[in-house]
Order: sequence, then C-alpha cells, then structure tokens
Amino acid sequence: MSASRTDSPPPPPTRSSLKPSLVVTLLSVLAPIVAVTVLYRHEPFDPAPLPIHELPGTVAAPMQNGRVLRGAEMVGAGRVVGPEDVEHDPASGVIYVGCADGWVKRVKVGESAGDTAVEDWVNTGGRPLGLALGRDGELIVCDPYKGLLNVSKHGMVELLTDEAEGVKFKLTDGVAVASDGTIYFTDASYKYTFGEFIWDILEGRPHGRLLSYDPATKETQVLARDLYFPNGIALSPNQSFVIFCETIMRRCKRYYINGERKGHIDTFIGGLPGYPDNIRYDGEGHYWIALSSGISVSWDLAIKHPFIRKAAAILERLNRRPAMEKDSGVFQVDSEGKPVAHYYDPQLSLISSGNKIGDYLYCGSLHYPHILRLKLD
Ligand SMILES: *[C@@H]1O[C@H](CO)[C@@H](O)[C@H](O)[C@H]1NC(C)=O
Ligand SMILES: *[C@@H]1O[C@H](CO)[C@@H](O)[C@H](O)[C@H]1NC(C)=O
Repeated sequence: MSASRTDSPPPPPTRSSLKPSLVVTLLSVLAPIVAVTVLYRHEPFDPAPLPIHELPGTVAAPMQNGRVLRGAEMVGAGRVVGPEDVEHDPASGVIYVGCADGWVKRVKVGESAGDTAVEDWVNTGGRPLGLALGRDGELIVCDPYKGLLNVSKHGMVELLTDEAEGVKFKLTDGVAVASDGTIYFTDASYKYTFGEFIWDILEGRPHGRLLSYDPATKETQVLARDLYFPNGIALSPNQSFVIFCETIMRRCKRYYINGERKGHIDTFIGGLPGYPDNIRYDGEGHYWIALSSGISVSWDLAIKHPFIRKAAAILERLNRRPAMEKDSGVFQVDSEGKPVAHYYDPQLSLISSGNKIGDYLYCGSLHYPHILRLKLD
C-alpha cells in the first residue's frame, strides 16, 4: 500500500499550482502577439512598396573619419536649438541658422568657438529649415509651416509662394538661388507637415516636388514631381544643373536648368551610406551632403518591407518606435559626384547640414542645441 502510494503521480495540489503558472507564462508570450496582430489588422496606415530595384550598392569614400565627435567643438552651445541649415555670408562673416523655436539667428564666431555671439534676428512664426542668401542681401527661407519666405536685410518677412498647380506646400524644405535670381526649392511632401515627416517616410509614397520661383514674374513652376522626400538642393557652379537630395532613396538627383539637357533628370550620386538631408557646394569643387542617419539594419529592412514600416508606424503611434538613427554625419563628393570623404560618428543622429567655411565644417542638426564644428585637416 505504502509502496504503491510512493509510485502514484504527484498529489493534485501540486499539479493545480503548476498549471496556472504555465498559463501565465503562455499568456505573457501570446498576449503581446495577439495584441500586435489585432493592432496590425486594424491599423489603417498603409505603406507602399518603394522602388528598391532602383537602389544601387552602397558607395564608400576613400577617406573616413568615423569618430568626428572626438575633435568637434560646439558653437553657440545652448543658444541655437535645432539649427537645421547653416548659411554663411562671406561679406559680413555672419552665419545664419534656422532654429526649432522659429528664430532665424545670426551667429558670429570669434577667435574660438566659445567666443560666439548669437542674435535672435527674425522669427518666422514657423520652423525655418533651408536658407539661402538672395541677390539683394536678403535671406530666402524655407518654412514648412509658411512656405517660401523672403526676409529682407532689414528683417521684413514676405511670403513669396506657398502653392503650385493648386497644390499647397506642406513641407517646404531646401532652397538655392541661381545667379540669374531664380529660386530653386523643394517641397518634401504635400501630404505631411514637418512635425509628421516620419509618416511620409514610413508611408513610402512620393509626395515631393522640385520647384522654381521667378522673382521677376512671381511665378512658381513645378520642375519635377513624384519625388521621395526631396530635401536639400544646391546649384552647380556653372549653373548647368541643380542637385537635390531624395532622402528616402539615399540618392541625389540632378535637374538640368541650362544647356541641351535642360529639363532632364539623372542621378548625381546613388547608394549613399545614409539618408541625405541638405547639400551644399563649397566653391572649391566639392559638395557636402549631410546624412541624417547612416544605414542601419532596421532602416534597411523598413525600406525593403512595407509591413515593417507598418509595424514601425504602430509603434510610432504608441510612442514606442525605437531610435533607428545613428552614424549621422556629412559625406563629401567632388563636382562629378565621386566620393571623397565621410565624416560621421556612431553617437550622432539627425545631422541636417554641412557647410565648409574656411578650414572648418559647420554642421547643423534637427535637435542638438549647438552647431557642431570640425577642423578639416
Ligand atoms: C526680398 O525683399 C527685398 C526687400 O523688399 C527685395 O529687395 C528683394 O529683391 C526681395 N527678394 C526676392 C527674391 O523677392
Ligand atoms: C558644368 O559643370 C559640369 C560638372 O562639373 C560639367 O560636366 C559640364 O560640362 C559643365 N557645363 C558647361 C556648359 O560648362
């Protein structure tokens, strides 16, 4: 009797105490899966496939500095928050930046980075992004909440244009002024505002346009449409084309404005090792392309697979999207688009512009409270 008792299965109390814990474990694994499945099914956001067949292999620059923060200085620390674009007036030595608080600030760097004067110059009431000096000493400003603005040298703000072909701009982004006075600029999206730009990228549809504004006729013209987040823009020194960055596609395109190719578009550089923002010509044979993020496995998968962008959108709505940006910096190419150098850092994200001024590279960003300055040698 006692032997058969020993051989019998464990008594019922022990058994029933095991069961709930197994159920709890199962539930804790299944519940999030079920929740995500339900959320996914009911999520109306519908990302599109991107033309990934147009993406070439990633290029690399012969010169690399992957630790730029080690030698960088902070200019205007605490006084310029989110200085997206950095424009330099060689005549006065003033650096203009457009900040997150709506101010276009005038920055004068002294003997050292610490010796910097910052002046709140003009507040657009929006969020100034791309900046370019005009021919009459004015500053042309892309404000995604306002449109294309003319800020006269006396600080008067005038709206130049905020729509084309009956479609309003929603994300006026990058600007360059040609020597004949024509203003070339981009509207990154007619669908999403600046505050919603991540949704444009996650959706993966081409909502952007390349435009021009003629100050003589006050006419706005659409030069190219169906672009994937057209961002920064620069003129070639001989005025034969403009180069604009198509952020989502990791490339810069060229739109010919003069000569026999006028009106044609081709790729200036593709397969950039990151997502381009602003581009600037330095007057010395090189373009500087800011990369808001380097390539990461998560972005790479997201670009390839709409369902991952949809999952990221759900997390974005829940405020739980993991940080996917890293290795941000600036990529230098020559006048033919051949890579020269790549300056970046694993710790950097959302660097939005690179401007070579003298022996320094000045970098703007969407969120840092300073301009990063790097000695180029
Ligand atoms: C901007 O405004 C100033 C002052 O009125 C003017 O001199 C300049 O030509 C304007 N620029 C453009 C592009 O309209
Ligand atoms: C303008 O510059 C580009 C790039 O350097 C060059 O390929 C092109 O031939 C030049 N065009 C003219 C008309 O000089």
